[in-house]
Amino acid sequence: MSDPADILARHRFEYETAGLDVGEVDPDPMTQWRRWFDDAVAAGCTEPNAFVLSTVDEDGWPQSRYLLLRAADERGFTCFTNYDSAKSRELADTGRASMLFTWLQLHRQVRVTATAERVPDAESDDYFASRPRGSQVGAWSSPQSQPIPDRAWLEDRVQQMTATFVDADVPRPAFWGGWLLRPESFEFWQGRPSRLHDRLRYTRDQRDAAAWQVARLSP
Ligand SMILES: Cc1cc2nc3c(=O)[nH]c(=O)nc-3n(C[C@H](O)[C@H](O)[C@H](O)COP(=O)(O)O)c2cc1C
Repeated sequence: MSDPADILARHRFEYETAGLDVGEVDPDPMTQWRRWFDDAVAAGCTEPNAFVLSTVDEDGWPQSRYLLLRAADERGFTCFTNYDSAKSRELADTGRASMLFTWLQLHRQVRVTATAERVPDAESDDYFASRPRGSQVGAWSSPQSQPIPDRAWLEDRVQQMTATFVDADVPRPAFWGGWLLRPESFEFWQGRPSRLHDRLRYTRDQRDAAAWQVARLSP
C-alpha cells in the first residue's frame, strides 16, 4: 500500500502548459475569465463552474466551501444558496467575499475578491423556477447550516414538503436566493515549469472605476 506521507512529500508535477503575458490577456478580466472558463469546459474539467467561496465569520475565522457558479456577466458572478445559511450571514455582515476557481487539468487558478449583494428577487424567482422539482423541495426542507437531530428528520421534512406542494408549482422560499459577487480584483495563475509560474493581477484603476490595471506578480 502507498504511504500517504510519502506521496505528499514527493508528488511533483511539471507544468508544461503555455504561458500568460500582460500583452496577451484581455484588458477586461471578466472576458479573460470567460476565456479560461471556456478552455476548462473544452478540456473536460470536472464541474468547471465549481469555485471555493471564502468568507470571514464573526470571530474572524476564514470559512471556505464550494459553490456552483450560475452566471457570469458584466456585473459579476452569481451563485444561489440559503439566505439563512452561515455563508449568507457572513456575506451580509461583511459585504465581502473571496472566490477561487481551480482547473487543475490546465494548471490554472483564478482568485477573485468581490463585494457581495443579494440579486433582485425576480432573478432568484427565475432561477428557482428552472431548478428540478427535487431541488426545489430540498430548498424548503433544509434549514441549511443548522444542527438537525439525524438524517431521518431531514427525510421527514422532505416528505412533509412534498405533500405540501403536491399538484402545485413549488414557489421560491423567501429564505433562498442569489448573491451577486462584484469583482474588485482578479489574479490569474498559470502553472509553468520549475515553479516559475505566471501570475497576473488585475486591480481597478483608481482614476477610472471601469478600467483595470494589470501587474505581474512573482511566483
Ligand atoms: C461541488 C460543490 C458545489 C456546491 N454548490 C453549492 C451551491 O451552489 N449552493 C449551496 O448552497 N451549497 C453548495 N454546496 C454545498 C456547500 O459547499 C456548503 O456545504 C453549504 O452551502 C453550506 O455552507 P455554509 O454552512 O458555509 O453556509 C456545494 C458543494 C460542493 C462540493
